[in-house]
Amino acid sequence: MSVSDEVIVQLAEAAREARSFAYAPYSGFSVGAALLTDNGEVFTGCNVENSSYGMTCCAERTAVFSAIAAGAQHFHAIAVAADNSPVPPCGACRQVLSEFAQDLTIVLVGKGTNHRILTLGNLLPEPFNAGFLLTASDEASGE
Ligand code: THU
Repeated sequence: MSVSDEVIVQLAEAAREARSFAYAPYSGFSVGAALLTDNGEVFTGCNVENSSYGMTCCAERTAVFSAIAAGAQHFHAIAVAADNSPVPPCGACRQVLSEFAQDLTIVLVGKGTNHRILTLGNLLPEPFNAGFLLTASDEASGE
């Protein structure tokens, strides 16, 4: 799905602003994300770390959970801003994004106007999805 240059610039800016709110005292690696819904709303997120490191939530998942909590479920694109170079979403975030959008456009924001555009299909070609749960329960019930 295509995203206009104007929207890319807006999303990149929103992701950079969200990054400024990152709580990353342990890694020092701040990340921001801006998630665009099909009807043009933007939800943002930053990484939120914890002294119990495994409790950390990435910027992308924070943005998704914020959108879901506000009633949005259909997503068109996400921009991710980290340090100077474009950084892709981690595996856990790819899986969470795939729950809501198979063909999501992903804008990896770099320094200045440098960015890379990918799709979730590129990054997670064979996601685990609800279809496998149905298959498993059919097998268990002998169907
Ligand atoms: N992080 C994100 O927020 N998004 C990613 O896609 C990769 C990693 C965060 C998690 C942690 O707070 C820090 O970056 C270092 O891993």
